[in-house]
Amino acid sequence: MKGLILSGGKGTRLYPLTYTSAKQLIPVANKPVLFRVIESIHDAGITDIGIVVGDTADQIKAAVGRGGRWGIKITYIHQEHPLGLAHAVKVSQDFLGDDRFVMFLGDNVIQGGISELIEQFAASKWNSQIVLTRVANPERYGVAELNENGQIKRLIEKPKQPPSNLALVGIYMFDHHIHQAVDNITPSWRGELEITDAIQWLVEHEYQVYPYVHRGWWIDTGKREELLEANGLVLEELTPVVEGYVDRDSEVDGRVTIENGAEIINSVVRGPTIIGERTRIVNSYVGPFTSIYHDVVVEDSEIERAIVLEHSVIRDIPARIQDSVIGRNVTLARSPIKPKAYKMALGDHSQVGIL
Ligand code: TTP
Repeated sequence: MKGLILSGGKGTRLYPLTYTSAKQLIPVANKPVLFRVIESIHDAGITDIGIVVGDTADQIKAAVGRGGRWGIKITYIHQEHPLGLAHAVKVSQDFLGDDRFVMFLGDNVIQGGISELIEQFAASKWNSQIVLTRVANPERYGVAELNENGQIKRLIEKPKQPPSNLALVGIYMFDHHIHQAVDNITPSWRGELEITDAIQWLVEHEYQVYPYVHRGWWIDTGKREELLEANGLVLEELTPVVEGYVDRDSEVDGRVTIENGAEIINSVVRGPTIIGERTRIVNSYVGPFTSIYHDVVVEDSEIERAIVLEHSVIRDIPARIQDSVIGRNVTLARSPIKPKAYKMALGDHSQVGIL
């Protein structure tokens, strides 16, 4: 069995963070979402993984490499334009051949336990297995309607009147019949080859598509709020490890991970939280559900429920920073230079909430 991870796309909903960088590389609890996806597939014993890449191919290749770090083989597959999930399968046909495979969206985070499901599919005769979960707003997702026997009756992409609250989670398993399906569908109203249409084709042609209802959490990290939510959930599952330095004047609770070379000086850190390598927290408060990546400085400030990316500096901020995602190499500091005013250099689509 092979793995296929979709890591192309544009990431427009996470602008400006994703103007210049791949959304799949944004860290959740200090590990890029894409690495978590690779590890979930590897946990199921799969070592041959293809990654579909688009405009951000170079960054993804630089971060992931050839897979040696996980003992797996990675093949990169170029998708010229993000023309849909089924299109991504189409451009991967040479890599996939006639093998059964699991396809994962590279920006989704799911609670553990999925590897058993993949192993089950590998050993089964089903033509496809899809993972569903109950959601509050099904009109935003691909939705499945099941019949009285629990089999799939129909799949619809973003329905205005959803027939159920069972949304398709970004994990799909297929055998080679999916190639026939993607060759037989046409683009949807939004111009994309939809994977839901390809699965619907399998159902209509009486191939066996098995629905599995996942009961744990699952998050598509497409937007800031979802990213923060995923971060909190993953942090809650982390086993805390303290490898960095905590001085005597600091108060750090038992749910905090402090990575190698990090320093906590005269500060309060409440978990679940992770402080990255070589990051310095000085005279500050770091509250729960916060992930501060490597080489960051937080000084004379308070921050809670946030993600801060590498090489950023937060210094002497008078109000608590909360529910925020702060990008790479950002400086957020009080300036002694007159006039007393907010001085900013913000990228397009930035959002700043001022007291
Ligand atoms: P989406 O979140 O549906 O699309 P997107 O990444 O373009 O984001 P936005 O809506 O904010 O512009 O994509 C889900 C995942 O699949 C994501 O990891 C990107 C990937 N993808 C491809 O690899 N190829 C494609 O053609 C599409 C549509 C998505």
